[in-house]
Amino acid sequence: MVKIGSLVFNNFPLLLAPMEDVSDPPFRALCKQFGADLMFTEFISSEGLIRNAGKSTQKLDIYDEERPIGIQIFGADLNAMIKAAEIAENAHPELIDINFGCPVKKVVRKNAGAAILKDLDKMLLLASEIVKRVACPVTVKTRLGWDQNSVRIVEVAERLQDCGIKAITIHARTRSQMYKGEADWDWIKRVKDNPRLKIPVFGNGDITNPQKAAEYKNKYAPDGIMIGRASIGHPWIFKQIKHYFTTGELLSEPSLNERIAVCKEHLNRSLEWKGEKLGVLEMRRHYANYFKGYKHIKPFRNRLVTTDNPEQVFAILNELSHAGLMLSTTSNP
Ligand SMILES: Cc1cc2nc3c(=O)[nH]c(=O)nc-3n(C[C@H](O)[C@H](O)[C@H](O)COP(=O)(O)O)c2cc1C
Repeated sequence: MVKIGSLVFNNFPLLLAPMEDVSDPPFRALCKQFGADLMFTEFISSEGLIRNAGKSTQKLDIYDEERPIGIQIFGADLNAMIKAAEIAENAHPELIDINFGCPVKKVVRKNAGAAILKDLDKMLLLASEIVKRVACPVTVKTRLGWDQNSVRIVEVAERLQDCGIKAITIHARTRSQMYKGEADWDWIKRVKDNPRLKIPVFGNGDITNPQKAAEYKNKYAPDGIMIGRASIGHPWIFKQIKHYFTTGELLSEPSLNERIAVCKEHLNRSLEWKGEKLGVLEMRRHYANYFKGYKHIKPFRNRLVTTDNPEQVFAILNELSHAGLMLSTTSNP
């Protein structure tokens, strides 16, 4: 059993990672259908939230079907973060997650995200003050450290627990690594091996298939696994991993028509949630992943990402179904 405050998971939870421009309500609905146990919103700027910026407040949209869900906030200013946490709590998520891991320049330049890894006192202050101000559980998502010479994640996890943080997700890379190299899950094991640490530790980084999920679950003993990139265009990964955990057997990859059906549902939900223009536009980043590895996909993909009219996009997806493309033998979608 895994407990985040009063939130209880009876199984080994699989988490959908917060992903800016990806893990919006249309995508989350699909991941939920395929078995994601806990999901997060895209990160929300505390400065945007307290100023009522449209882009930030829209990310507070959560739906009952997706519960349990966490709203993730980021920022560097204590008062803005406290206010943002209070605003997020009013949207009634199961939990609030603080982002102490975002590596992108735009964020760290403002001393937010992974930059807070360089200032442990500030991290602990932000965490403890937010915990005091909201009633729901507060969790943290972070990286191993700023760079290879400053990895203090074992101590950081314990001190966050002492501030009242109820779970921690660790993307097992440093900020300097960005997305390069391999995530080093040995650190997750070290964090878990600390006898003082009682809160759940979720492992994150480079889980791409059911076998790797099972291997890392056994080898590094996290309390759950968070999946990001491998779910993009592949939301059934949660179902595949769960099936493998319970049976030891691999589900076959979805057929072209099954992929098209999921992609169409994604598009429909995007249109419904974002409206025609943005709905079509923002789906463009997903097609390459939905149809990765298919021979002769390029002309279809080129049309999918240049067509503005939703009906035409659906028509191209129908044509793709009739074309019955084959998977290339060399790639592993
Ligand atoms: C497109 C994209 C957007 C992301 N946005 C966020 C975000 O908003 N908040 C966050 O904590 N991490 C974000 N991340 C990092 C992921 O949550 C995750 O930690 C990282 O991708 C490693 O996991 P993976 O190897 O399973 O993808 C993002 C990653 C990607 C690829």
